Amino acid sequence: MTSLLRHIVSVSDVSIPVLGRIFSAAESIKRNFGQDPFSDGRIRLQAILQGAVVATIFYEPSTRTRLCFESAALRLGASVIGTENAGEFSSAIKGETLADTVRIVAGYADLLVLRHPARGSATEAAGLNVIPVINAGDGDGEHPTQALLDYFTIMERAGEQSQGSLTCVGDLRYGRTVHSLLRLVAGLRGTSLERITSINLVAPPDLHLPEALVTTAEQAGVKVQVHHALTEGVLQKSDFLYLTRVQKERGAVMVDPTAFALTLARAKQLPSSATIMHPLPRNAELPTELDSLPQAQHFAQAQNGLFVRMALLIAILRAEALEGLGA
Ligand code: NCD
Repeated sequence: MTSLLRHIVSVSDVSIPVLGRIFSAAESIKRNFGQDPFSDGRIRLQAILQGAVVATIFYEPSTRTRLCFESAALRLGASVIGTENAGEFSSAIKGETLADTVRIVAGYADLLVLRHPARGSATEAAGLNVIPVINAGDGDGEHPTQALLDYFTIMERAGEQSQGSLTCVGDLRYGRTVHSLLRLVAGLRGTSLERITSINLVAPPDLHLPEALVTTAEQAGVKVQVHHALTEGVLQKSDFLYLTRVQKERGAVMVDPTAFALTLARAKQLPSSATIMHPLPRNAELPTELDSLPQAQHFAQAQNGLFVRMALLIAILRAEALEGLGA
């Protein structure tokens, strides 16, 4: 077993060369995936992680992330153990600490995918260093694998064009997916993976992006502009429009959600080549009537998570298999 990386707590844990290989592998898996579950391409993938056990322990609700990781592991031939609602269904309810749970899981599985409501929980779990840990969301901290699949989608849509603008809209204060995505955009500035050079932040003042992240982006040379409404001027200069919901469970309140929602009339103000993205789940900020717009890519984005997470699991558990995927 060789590994290209051990833990992913933050996007900054993935070096640029490793990220390049993960994206190449994800692209190759996607290209050869096909509809037929018994196609040669899919059967070959089944051998890669055969024998490995992946654990998914989620203390917060999830549809995509948990099922996507489980599907990625199963499609590579690994077995999956785990629990959703781990706050109630694990021994946490009996007072077990996260550290004890992680130590126990390490005796049963080869990798842990962890979602937890406390920022820093993944750092704590990885710090024990008993098993590779993937942060699947730590409170309002980070959600690095969501950022990787978001960025993969951006790269697919941008092609070789490296001067795009990304507009992030909604609850930028508590939305961890935006935190990870912006950190990633900053880290890729000036590299061969650069696709975004300017960022528009659109949020009410009390749900503004944490200032430290604005500084990180600016220091990396990314142009940052702050707005308090989704105006025509902002829409016209949005190559990528990344909408987010209000994180009510973290105490966020949005007084005027209509100012931060996309409507058909507003969507018409986007460039025709723009890409509409959303980490999902969505609320009123992305009405279903917009799903059929050519720019709307949120379902394709979620599907990309499968390919990116498959590549990621391989990079952590069996990196030598990346070569067979041309990565
Ligand atoms: C996001 C999350 O959990 O942070 N969901 C996801 O993983 N796609 C976004 C959200 O909950 O708003």
